[in-house]
Amino acid sequence: MIAEPIRVLVTGAAGQIAYSLLFSIAKGDVFGQDQPISLLLLDITPMLPVLEGVVMELQDCALPLLKEIIPTDKEEVAFKDLDAAILVGSMPRKEGMERKDLLKANVAIFKSQGAALDKYAKKTVKVLVVGNPANTNCLIAAKSAPSIPKENFSCLTRLDHNRARSQVAMRCGVPATRVKNVIIWGNHSSTQYPDVHHCKVNMSGSEVTCFDAIKDDDWLKGDFITTVQQRGAAVIKARKLSSAMSAAKAICDHMRDIWSGTHEGEFISMGVYSTGNSYGVPEDLIYSFPVQIQNKTWKIVDSLPINDFSKSKMDATAAELVEERDTAVAFLGV
Ligand SMILES: NC(=O)c1ccc[n+]([C@@H]2O[C@H](COP(=O)([O-])OP(=O)(O)OC[C@H]3O[C@@H](n4cnc5c(N)ncnc54)[C@H](O)[C@@H]3O)[C@@H](O)[C@H]2O)c1
Ligand SMILES: *[C@@H]1O[C@H](CO)[C@@H](O)[C@H](O)[C@H]1NC(C)=O
Ligand SMILES: *[C@@H]1O[C@H](CO)[C@@H](O)[C@H](O)[C@H]1NC(C)=O
Ligand SMILES: *[C@@H]1O[C@H](CO)[C@@H](O)[C@H](O)[C@H]1NC(C)=O
Ligand SMILES: *[C@@H]1O[C@H](CO)[C@@H](O)[C@H](O)[C@H]1NC(C)=O
Repeated sequence: MIAEPIRVLVTGAAGQIAYSLLFSIAKGDVFGQDQPISLLLLDITPMLPVLEGVVMELQDCALPLLKEIIPTDKEEVAFKDLDAAILVGSMPRKEGMERKDLLKANVAIFKSQGAALDKYAKKTVKVLVVGNPANTNCLIAAKSAPSIPKENFSCLTRLDHNRARSQVAMRCGVPATRVKNVIIWGNHSSTQYPDVHHCKVNMSGSEVTCFDAIKDDDWLKGDFITTVQQRGAAVIKARKLSSAMSAAKAICDHMRDIWSGTHEGEFISMGVYSTGNSYGVPEDLIYSFPVQIQNKTWKIVDSLPINDFSKSKMDATAAELVEERDTAVAFLGV
């Protein structure tokens, strides 16, 4: 039996993240090696000629799972009957643009795309928001799609998670797969808190805590945190472009885990609805938590012990998100 193709949307499809992402999705890295795919590609009208080039390259990859490619600038085409939506496109900051105006422009985009999900997509659609400000854009999309469960919306902090994991692994001289259960708390910004208090490292066969593996608490509480928080800026400084290959890889990790679940005893980080969490994070935010996923349903890993050092950093990033949410929600009514 050959499975029916699933319908997967990528927005911002003519952009640089999509250029890495589309190949991985189309060759089966995310939804499985036996799952045929119809790819829907949305971008804005002026980018349609560029998008046509991306379509040609996807065709030229001659991939067995890719059944159909539909490039479009129309939401009613792009959001129809979706099984998964990866919302990468957003309004970039332009020279001289005020923060508030940028937020307002993004609220307009994600309000419209949320409404399109509500109207055209399957009610079981899994929505991953990547375009910045990712947490708040995700919240606005979820609020604008009342007929789709809020649990089906998440935002990307897996890139930060992977950065943290890799920093620890390099310091210990082990592959990144030997490091598990780092946590990214909060906003996908420089106030995010990369937390290693629950992280384990498999050093030559036996699992030890991250603090025991690294034996340098000052580094873990100082430079490690700032390196992860500032990593996006460091890549921009070096490349003169923002992270794209690593962002695409993180998107694949995130969506693959939603589709197929996380490993026993492991948790990953993603931005999800904060309602009912045990950490005192305010309700009604999309906040990055440690989660485990089974049967396409995530659960926040609850009741991990949190010390004062961690708590103050978790609160600071929450305060930033509350402020941004209140401004964004005010724009929703406009
Ligand atoms: N959450 C994360 O970890 C993370 C990591 C890296 C980048 N990002 C964000 O991802 C976004 C995309 O990054 P990129 O490097 O691919 O940017 P890019 O500028 O190369 O591509 C963005 C694409 O989105 C399109 N677009 C803009 N508005 C759109 C709309 N309303 N509908 C559909 N398409 C639209 C643009 O035309 C462009 O083709 C940015 O917002 C970036 O800040 C997030
Ligand atoms: C939250 O993070 C996003 C993404 O980096 C950023 O654009 C936004 O400004 C941050 N929010 C606040 C209130 O700083
Ligand atoms: C640690 O890694 C070794 C070598 O890869 C593996 O055999 C072992 O099962 C791992 N231990 C744990 C607890 O994951
Ligand atoms: C998995 O989820 C589906 C749909 O929500 C449900 O019908 C099924 O019973 C669940 N299976 C398990 C093992 O929990
Ligand atoms: C999405 O919603 C469906 C119900 O429509 C539910 O069964 C599923 O678990 C949800 N998925 C996630 C990732 O929460």
